[in-house]
Amino acid sequence: MARILSGIKPTGQLTLGNYIGAIKNFARVQHDGEPFIFIADLHALTLPIDPKTLRNNSRDIAAYYLAAGLDPKTTTIFLQSSVHEHSELAIILQNYLYMGELSRMTQYKDKTQKMDNNAIGLGLFAYPVLMAADIVLYDAPRIPVGEDQVQHVELARDLVKRFNNRYGDVLVMPKAEVTKVGKRIMSLSDPTKKMSKSDPKGDIYLSDDLKTMRKKIMSAVTDLGHEVKYDVVNKPGISNLMTIYSALTNKTMEEIEQEFANKGYGDFKRSVADALINEMEPFKARYEQIINSGIVDEVLKEGQIRASKAAKETLKRVQQAVGLYTLK
Ligand code: TYM
Repeated sequence: MARILSGIKPTGQLTLGNYIGAIKNFARVQHDGEPFIFIADLHALTLPIDPKTLRNNSRDIAAYYLAAGLDPKTTTIFLQSSVHEHSELAIILQNYLYMGELSRMTQYKDKTQKMDNNAIGLGLFAYPVLMAADIVLYDAPRIPVGEDQVQHVELARDLVKRFNNRYGDVLVMPKAEVTKVGKRIMSLSDPTKKMSKSDPKGDIYLSDDLKTMRKKIMSAVTDLGHEVKYDVVNKPGISNLMTIYSALTNKTMEEIEQEFANKGYGDFKRSVADALINEMEPFKARYEQIINSGIVDEVLKEGQIRASKAAKETLKRVQQAVGLYTLK
């Protein structure tokens, strides 16, 4: 069974984009591999964040993983910071990624666009190094992510190539597996932009109540015309809603076009909202139950034990490969 590795950063509130592009997809793939799914809390420190918010967000993500059906018996769910090998491996791997390539990362460029150059934290710049360490630490060939993380996985692949060329077959080559439907859920207020945790307008948050979720879908920006047709260039708003509907109902774009052939945007939006509520109502109820129980900490403790065991082996292999004198 091939290992699967992925994570979510506990900054801001999780969005429908995170749900469809990541969480729901993790739950889908968990049975055809050996998954390690974590909370990327060290990554959350790369931009200023309130300590209490970080703690709460971290617990929340664990609860959302469980509410979405991740089975802690088969899926190792853990906090990145609870497995110190992530940080140790990053210290070694930082020597095999170059400043030029790090400065070309889209996420880095986006995040620093409006920042004062003198006040950009080293951690934000070195973000992909830690992410590469996360990835290779579990010898996982499969990395399920939304589209915006592919560039980072590609950089991890470059690193593995570079490292293995020098030291032999030490690291397992990872590969991004982009979510089939919903790899890039767009903002509801501007469908040319990605739905992100830092865009309060146009986002559906998993913490929104059901009424707000419905309202946000009903007031989503649509396009000229009345035809429900998948056409990302000319109908970005409708295409985005179709993607959401398809991800929630498993219907294909053709089936959706047929279903709404003689209906307008209003009918279509109502159906998208219904499908969303259908999925979110039980999901949010499970989340409430989980977050108010002691399960989260139990799962994270067990996850720490299992993840550490796997991580230790890889770190040791890397230490030995580069020539660090390791004691028995
Ligand atoms: P993060 O926390 O920004 O996002 C978590 C996951 O959600 C996906 N995603 C989306 N998918 C579809 N539509 C959207 N609008 C959307 N927004 C977010 C992301 O692609 C991602 O899969 N650097 C990572 C966390 C991380 C990681 C890792 C992931 C750290 N180490 C190792 C994989 C492997 C991040 O910030 O994701």
